[in-house]
Amino acid sequence: MSEEKTNKVALMKQVKEIENLPTLPTVVSEILTALENPKTSAEDVNNIISSDPALTAKILKLVNSAFFGFPREISSVTHAVVVLGFATVRNVAITASVFSSFSGKGSDVFNREAFWLHSIGTGVISQLVARHCRLSIVEDSFVAGLLHDLGKIILDEYFHDIFVECLNESCENKISFVEAEERLMDTGHHRIGYWLASKWNMPKPIIEAIAYHHHPSSAPDHPQIAALVHLGDAICRLQKIGSCGGEFASTIKKETFDILPIKHAQLPEILPMIEPEMKKAKILLEL
Ligand SMILES: [Fe+2]
Ligand SMILES: [Fe+2]
Repeated sequence: MSEEKTNKVALMKQVKEIENLPTLPTVVSEILTALENPKTSAEDVNNIISSDPALTAKILKLVNSAFFGFPREISSVTHAVVVLGFATVRNVAITASVFSSFSGKGSDVFNREAFWLHSIGTGVISQLVARHCRLSIVEDSFVAGLLHDLGKIILDEYFHDIFVECLNESCENKISFVEAEERLMDTGHHRIGYWLASKWNMPKPIIEAIAYHHHPSSAPDHPQIAALVHLGDAICRLQKIGSCGGEFASTIKKETFDILPIKHAQLPEILPMIEPEMKKAKILLEL
């Protein structure tokens, strides 16, 4: 086995051995598990969520915000489940909890607020493109965009030195951050994010979008959502919304336009919609 391969195995092994990994709030894990069971009722979901008053408050704040823009006021979790359905409530719960799970300030080289802006921007753009293409995965694409670079937080928090080396390698050689990761670690943040999202029991399309956001055509079952996030990520960088570390080579892969019913020439139609959506979505930073 080459030295690089040994590193890869070693790093992923170390990731899996982190003892105090960030966890999702128990309630969100319970919702994700409950929704896998077709017998779960609206009342069950309500009972789970209501056991966490802080999360309940965040969910109600979000569903009543301009970002979600539901026409009627939603006054309770039961109401939310009945009006919005399971999948939406699950997505709102994931969105509301992610920010509290990773509330750390970040480091000198990796500004956490800029990172979240990049994540929100990717979510917003993925969702706008999904809507433009009239795909049925509009909401999942937002959550997938929001979580796509999750692995970078793990690298920053637990493998800070090698993370900084990758950032420098990317800057100095003007290569993408992923290429720098492959060179120095023979693994990447997409694999770490994939592992964490699977451990958290996230919905399959979201897990795949995280794993394949750099190579959407390799996604075995859900290439569309992976392509949406790939496109959202690239546009977000080109528009300089936030920062995700390693800004080079943010090109849009050609395969994106084979997977999605949109042409490269149509992308300018999306651009004016980004800023107004970003304004509404910034409520996420206030949770
Ligand atoms: Fe990425
Ligand atoms: Fe990204």
